[in-house]
Amino acid sequence: FFYGQSEPVYPSPPMKGTGAWTDAFNKAVDFVGQLTIEEKASLVTGLASSTGTMGTLNGCSGNIASIPRMNFSGLCLTDAGQGVRATDFVSGFPSGIHVGASWNRALARSRAESMGLEFRIKGANIALGPVVGPLGRVVRGGRNWEGFSVDPYLCGALAAQTVEGIQSQGVITSTKHFIGNEQESYRNPTAGNVESVSSNIDDKTMHELYLWPFQDAVYAGTGNIMCSYNRVNNSYGCANSKTQNGLLKTELGFQGAITSDWDALHTGVAGSLAGMDMVMPSSNLWGDQLVKAVKNGSVSEDRLSDMATRVIASWYQMKQDQDFPEPGVGIAPDLTKPHRIVDARNISSRKVLLDGAIEGHVLLKNTKNALPLHKPKMLSIFGYSARSPDQWNYQSNGGVAAWTFGGESAYMGRDTAAGFVGIVDANFTQIAPNGTLFSGGGSGSVTPASVSAPYDALTQRAYDDGTALMWDFYSPEPDVAGISDACLVIVNAFASEGFDRPGIRDDFTDGLIRHVADRCDNTIVIFHNAGIRLVDQWIDHPNITALVFAHLPGEASGHALVSLLYGESNPSGKLPYTVARNESDYGRFLAPDLPEGDFEKFPQSNFSTEGVYIDYRHFDARNITPRYEFGFGLSYTTFSFSDLDITKNQGANTDEFPTGPIVEGGQADLWDVVATINATITNTGAMDGAEVAQLYVGIPGAPVKQLRGFEKPFVNVSSSAAVSFRVNRRDLSVWDVVAQKWALQRGDYEVLVGSSSRQLPLRGVLSI
Ligand code: NOJ
Repeated sequence: FFYGQSEPVYPSPPMKGTGAWTDAFNKAVDFVGQLTIEEKASLVTGLASSTGTMGTLNGCSGNIASIPRMNFSGLCLTDAGQGVRATDFVSGFPSGIHVGASWNRALARSRAESMGLEFRIKGANIALGPVVGPLGRVVRGGRNWEGFSVDPYLCGALAAQTVEGIQSQGVITSTKHFIGNEQESYRNPTAGNVESVSSNIDDKTMHELYLWPFQDAVYAGTGNIMCSYNRVNNSYGCANSKTQNGLLKTELGFQGAITSDWDALHTGVAGSLAGMDMVMPSSNLWGDQLVKAVKNGSVSEDRLSDMATRVIASWYQMKQDQDFPEPGVGIAPDLTKPHRIVDARNISSRKVLLDGAIEGHVLLKNTKNALPLHKPKMLSIFGYSARSPDQWNYQSNGGVAAWTFGGESAYMGRDTAAGFVGIVDANFTQIAPNGTLFSGGGSGSVTPASVSAPYDALTQRAYDDGTALMWDFYSPEPDVAGISDACLVIVNAFASEGFDRPGIRDDFTDGLIRHVADRCDNTIVIFHNAGIRLVDQWIDHPNITALVFAHLPGEASGHALVSLLYGESNPSGKLPYTVARNESDYGRFLAPDLPEGDFEKFPQSNFSTEGVYIDYRHFDARNITPRYEFGFGLSYTTFSFSDLDITKNQGANTDEFPTGPIVEGGQADLWDVVATINATITNTGAMDGAEVAQLYVGIPGAPVKQLRGFEKPFVNVSSSAAVSFRVNRRDLSVWDVVAQKWALQRGDYEVLVGSSSRQLPLRGVLSI
């Protein structure tokens, strides 16, 4: 009886060429009109992974064959969100969570532009990112670090910048994983006929939380969306007509193509009818079988033409018909063999890589003037995340190259979470003990041409300053020179695709921190954390003077850390999630759901139990005090907030329901600005710096507060900056399950502005 819960929505709505897509649509219709059924099927079916688009080999994650008579050279699809994966001569950008912690739209945009250019130079037509699902419902989720934030507004805003930035370089984004892909455990069917986990999501929760950032990505014009491994309301993500035909193609008016996650298609005809448009990396359910299905009438030729049209329209939309590099030209299949060097790095990326790395560091504690450092006489460095990995070379990994740091290989072949504890086995653990962590593991990882590890950058700085250094990277109980001016403990919390984290703290690391703190009265803890990490095991130790969450900074890690520690830059990152005091504070969404009882063969994950109340919405509703709240982060200076002004846009339509036509992103008037909220930030301290002004709104009948705006001005000492939040109709609406529309209710909306979700000095009311 658990089947049949996901409402059927048929037929699959054909692409219409709305809004910005008219031109590309017309060209695509013309193009597809000239194809045979076989050619159309080849446009939507991945090639066996070893064959490149031009008949040559490449190392792309997936390929679509060329059609030479149409001057179509094929498509290379490749990972992922932090730079071009598994190849050489590329940059390692900060990860999604790091961008989330920067709360900086402009930086997200320039990172995406630089990254997009690298994908383009390498001949990647479709970049397999950004990630907006997982959103982060499961605290121990293995892939939360690939996305930006557990808050849909912050996640969606940064995803929109990422989509626009990458696509500005003519590279199609595949925003993923659609939808409800919130855990790695049982993400795929496993041996013994256990189906993928089913994310059971009610309509309201779907819209107000999980669909929200996808909506932003569609509005921003994403040309591709990847359907996910999990089931949604017991129907497989890539065969789910409600989510694909209904939510994405009808309600959000999505004009591009839906591509399957790798091997996520389990049923041929049904997948096509349910709205999936392209299968990856190859499939014997489509290809010839799809041709057969069209010929025997199981799939209409119109549907196949629509699938092909959507694929080719996105190619025209990004102008890949003009002057795009040969697909996969810079992505060699085997990096140990001689191959053409295609150096994708560009000088304009250098600043973005460093600024991006700096801004995603979050300063959480800073007492006794621990930071910034001032030419210390002696510095001690501890912890396994300080130095470069032992090896830095190519390693065969499922046919692609990977750097050997305790990560990438961790996910190979693992689709269930089981017993990844201890630090003995580097591959299956909570930490990456073999060297500094600047990316998580799996397909979202990146293999930059070079990396600045913290220890390298600290050594350089110490040398220049004449600072004496001592270090011990691996002893659980190192000797500590008590005369050190400061002791840095640089450690990590690892996560990877393929399994959920076994925990959000580990005894080895906590023991090391306490051991150093007992012996050094200025202990500064730095975490490279691929997700939430608890700190209550030691944070109140009197000798622990400072704490930095350094997240996953990409290749500029060491340079960024030194810049912050020595006060050449001022910390400005904010947590894109909530750090609790105890595991139990997260309640039911600490851990992934596992098969149990009657559901042993078809595991269930009931999102509707908590609805939208995850992360800070949960902490607020349950009145639980977090250790560090969502949006929190310190600076070396102080800021004050003043002059709240709430102005309703007199011209705005405030009728209960939007009336606009459906274009990309949904009803057009959802984006009408209903109110403008202004405030002033003043730098009241002694150092220039940036501050994130955060706007939260209390919508009647919804959580007491939800993020609905953020701005990050740089403010000089004793100066002020004006911030302005433009709040649109969707920002103030709730999803009406009866009307099937976003509803703007009459009533009073509490407006809160400040520096974190719990430090909100400005309060006012907006009446609708
Ligand atoms: C599976 C992952 O879930 C997806 O994110 C990735 O893009 C593909 N593999 C291709 O590597």
